[in-house]
Amino acid sequence: MTTTRFIKVAEPLVGEEEVQAVREVILSGQYVSGRRVREFEERFAEYVGVRYAVAVSNGTAALHCALAALGVGPGDEVIVPPLTFFSTVTSVLHAGAVPIFADIAPDSFCLDPEDVRKRITPRTKVILPVHFFGNAADMDGICAVAREAGLKVLEDCAQAHGTEYKGRRVGSIGDAGIFSFYATKAMTTGEGGIVTTDDEGVARYTLLMRGHGMTDRDHHVMLGYNYRMTEIAAALGLVQLGRLEEGNRARIENSRWLLSQLSDIEWLEVPKSEPHVRHTFFWCPVFVDEDKLGMGVMDLVRLLRSRGIEVRQRYQTPLYRQPLMQQQNFYANGKPWNGGHHYEGEVPDYRDLCLPNVEKVAGKLIGLPNHPKLTSDDLEYVVRVLHDIKPS
Ligand SMILES: Cc1ncc(COP(=O)(O)O)c(C=O)c1O
Repeated sequence: MTTTRFIKVAEPLVGEEEVQAVREVILSGQYVSGRRVREFEERFAEYVGVRYAVAVSNGTAALHCALAALGVGPGDEVIVPPLTFFSTVTSVLHAGAVPIFADIAPDSFCLDPEDVRKRITPRTKVILPVHFFGNAADMDGICAVAREAGLKVLEDCAQAHGTEYKGRRVGSIGDAGIFSFYATKAMTTGEGGIVTTDDEGVARYTLLMRGHGMTDRDHHVMLGYNYRMTEIAAALGLVQLGRLEEGNRARIENSRWLLSQLSDIEWLEVPKSEPHVRHTFFWCPVFVDEDKLGMGVMDLVRLLRSRGIEVRQRYQTPLYRQPLMQQQNFYANGKPWNGGHHYEGEVPDYRDLCLPNVEKVAGKLIGLPNHPKLTSDDLEYVVRVLHDIKPS
């Protein structure tokens, strides 16, 4: 089959309104700490269903602020999944704490509460579930484990703008949530992030931490950073927030249709979905059984590309196997918990770790094109090409 068409895996939903909004800021001369950031925070808080939202420069900064605001520091442990973007884990290190990996549930690819329970120690402070690919983690299970052990829950919603769990938007269920507005996300401010919470103390701490720990021009009361969001980013965010649900609805519809057409392909597994989750399909993930296909995932990706279809293929390595985690060269002068005066636990040796559910899927998941600009003809073409691939 030869083709001249090329179906991209993702395309941003942007238009003249964004251009106009940014132009207004540029001409206004007010680039930071203005009304647009405040309005964006108010509108985003309302969208998620929380009392407070504090905008920052990116999702990683949001994670760093939220962890610190929840009281995480040197000597503490935070339980994280090994299948996520790396900064879910590095933000724990930025806070001076120790990431402890737990396994994922086989269908949702999100943290498994039962495995989390096994990894709790007296040093555990926070459980950090990621709502991966637009799905939702088992929040009832995670919150129950957290309650029993007296822990806080921080939701990483960087891939799940508008995802719902039992009728509540993610980012409003744990003690705090974070979102990213990086260029490829369901809505973007170029770079940007936000912390969502009902806890006034967490919101106040994040406000201080994002702005040099400054209470006024001349008073610095805590170790802060420059994590501010610009007015330009907030102006973009306000327009993008208005488009978010249109994009979500289209991605959900496209993904559900695609997945419904693929269940008879033997070498491909469609993940089960939970009826109480509104999955927003940041990715439309499928699991590739390389043995049944008789081909490696990378060869499949290349084959699809040659047929004019781009797919997502990331998160190939469980994060405990990343060179940084294996070598533990986190800080120029060593590890925060190596001196012994802060950290009382055993230094985790990530080289020993092998979590079975993560190992099964890492590198075997691909994300199919599902963005709002796809036509039904494009979607039918994707389904046809996938059916035409015969196992060798
Ligand atoms: C799950 C997850 N967490 C955190 C981040 C970090 O966000 P950012 O790239 O805005 O720093 C990302 C995205 O890139 C992500 O996908």
